[in-house]
Amino acid sequence: MKQMVLVSGGAGYIGCHTTVELIAAGYDVVIADNLSNADMSGVEGVRQITGVDVPFVEVDCCDKQAFARLFEQYNFDSVIHFAAYKAVGESVVDPMKYYRNNLTSFMNVVELMREYGRHNIVFSSSATVYGEADELPVTELTPRKPATSSYGNTKQICEDILRDVATAYEGLRGISLRYFNPIGAHPSALIGELPRGVPQNLVPFITQTAAGVRECLSVFGDDYPTPDGSCLRDYIDVVDLAKAHVVAITRMVEGKNKQPYEVFNVGTGNGVSVLELLHGFERVNGVKVNHKIAPRRAGDVVAIWADTKLANEELGWRSERTLDETLRSAWEWEKHVRGIK
Ligand code: UD1
Repeated sequence: MKQMVLVSGGAGYIGCHTTVELIAAGYDVVIADNLSNADMSGVEGVRQITGVDVPFVEVDCCDKQAFARLFEQYNFDSVIHFAAYKAVGESVVDPMKYYRNNLTSFMNVVELMREYGRHNIVFSSSATVYGEADELPVTELTPRKPATSSYGNTKQICEDILRDVATAYEGLRGISLRYFNPIGAHPSALIGELPRGVPQNLVPFITQTAAGVRECLSVFGDDYPTPDGSCLRDYIDVVDLAKAHVVAITRMVEGKNKQPYEVFNVGTGNGVSVLELLHGFERVNGVKVNHKIAPRRAGDVVAIWADTKLANEELGWRSERTLDETLRSAWEWEKHVRGIK
């Protein structure tokens, strides 16, 4: 019998790509999303790509009673929990919004999994938990630093909750995936990242500037202690990232996890600078991106990239798409959204 997976926050950027890969791997999926930061276009794109009428339930995971009805209705054994707010800056201005939403929804998922006897959960964590790391690349054993934003703190707290409950409760297994910087889009250009308002992240800002939606990209800082003076990040293709979720779920479904709770970095293992990424985008797509050097952005770490050995060896997962392919897909998606030929 086919295994079913609940994808909470499945209408969003990473959730949509993950749903496509779950279906390709033979899973049934039910998507739950409150559409607070997404519309139905992603779900429709997923249905078009897969040819499957993936069930969608509009529900807020913070509303436990409403959320429980989903557990009554669908017999999934595994959950991938994406549903969360993710704007770093906003979380500093309005921390309670982040604590209430991100922690309540996560605790509801875990409690309902216990009540309904469901077993496996993947939690959507972030490299932000490492802060400004003392050693590079960061391994899963690199100590986490105190979070510099409430958003980052909710990631740390949820990781800790998952560690404790998976250790304490028989039959509950969890994996936290620490994403580095997810970018790019599905090769079909039918799903991709669609930020509301002014993009806060680098690649959507680049693609929107190339498309003429934004006038000028600000490169935040060129005086960092890095080879070209701009920050270094590990940009991970969203389709590769989606596949990491499939192998994480499958590991637990097949009982191959070594501990009830495990953590994996999901990155490429390469540190790429802002200027390298920008010039790479211009080169592979043959477009110019108007940009200027601007002051450093508060809260940015100088450099971070992943040690991916554990994911390679334990999950048998590694990133496959090249940065050039990923940057091409990001532009194809932006053109699709804007109707550019
Ligand atoms: C941030 C969060 C991370 C979160 C991710 C996706 C932190 C430390 N990091 O990553 O947890 O998962 O967003 O939401 O909280 N840049 C520019 N110009 C721009 C935008 C960005 O130069 O207009 C630069 C930044 O200074 C940075 C790099 O591009 O050096 C990447 O920035 P961004 O895409 O915002 O991701 P992070 O800050 O690395």
